[in-house]
Amino acid sequence: MATATAPGKIILVGEHAVVYGRPAIAAPVWQRVATATIEPAAPGDGCSLHARDVELDIHLRTARDDEPLAVVTRLALAQLGIEQEPDWRIKLHSEIPIASGLGSGAALSTALVRAIFRQLGREAEPAQVSSLVYESERFYHGAPSGIDNTVVAYGQPIWFVKGREIEPFTPSVPLTIAIADSGVRSPTKATVGDVRRAWQREPARYESIFDAIGELVCAARRAMEVGDLPALGQLFDANQTLLESLDVSSETLHRLVAAARRAGALGAKLSGGGRGGNVIALVEEDAVDAVSGALYTSGAQQVIVTRIGAEAR
Ligand code: MEV
Repeated sequence: MATATAPGKIILVGEHAVVYGRPAIAAPVWQRVATATIEPAAPGDGCSLHARDVELDIHLRTARDDEPLAVVTRLALAQLGIEQEPDWRIKLHSEIPIASGLGSGAALSTALVRAIFRQLGREAEPAQVSSLVYESERFYHGAPSGIDNTVVAYGQPIWFVKGREIEPFTPSVPLTIAIADSGVRSPTKATVGDVRRAWQREPARYESIFDAIGELVCAARRAMEVGDLPALGQLFDANQTLLESLDVSSETLHRLVAAARRAGALGAKLSGGGRGGNVIALVEEDAVDAVSGALYTSGAQQVIVTRIGAEAR
């Protein structure tokens, strides 16, 4: 029996613009993981995948070509030179809410790839996992930048530019981030598609918003390098304003962002695809309780506090 886990993720700054070649910074969230477990099945049963959380029960040999978890299983087996379908029962479980901007799809696929390698006596390299998962991410997202699969497969904070070599990145002082789930499910594929259509209609306007986000991400990196948390908080706020101008925020997200700021957060923004999903707030340690409380009072379904650059896995 082999088992493997993979973390959720947040985008600290730069979502959406990252699809258009601008940089972004992302970090894993180890407090919520996806797990894949492989058990032997009866001889001749073939390979089946079961995920109760998403009501998935499929057999590899009959699964559709656009089923992401079947796609990633087939790709991993092919990469390992396995031509005959193994007799496996694969159980998948995720603590990461789906369509919430926390990378649930990427985490499930990553755990799955790692478990398949392990079951065959191999350890998968992060780069190998990341590229296999990217293939399946295309089904969740349409045209993903690759940031989700990369941060989840590497399991550490990253500076990411599409198509470039990945750069692990650790802030010089730990960042305390409160992550609030709005409870509104919003598939990333939909917001990425809407931004693409808007960009096609008004390329100059959207390119200039993407440029502004790219500059802000560079400034956020400098703030993290020198440990200037107030400056980083302001950059979170500025990023939120630009995401609003991309029309990927919502009343609910706006309310959570405003509540976090009022309760003493250094800055707050949506994280991921937007319209629903999660809001992240940069907080000082002594404001964690006040900010978490305010987020719950304003309707957050759940608040997770994560420390980036400080917590070991
Ligand atoms: C999703 O976590 C981040 C987006 O920028 C989409 C992507 O990069 O593929 C919205």
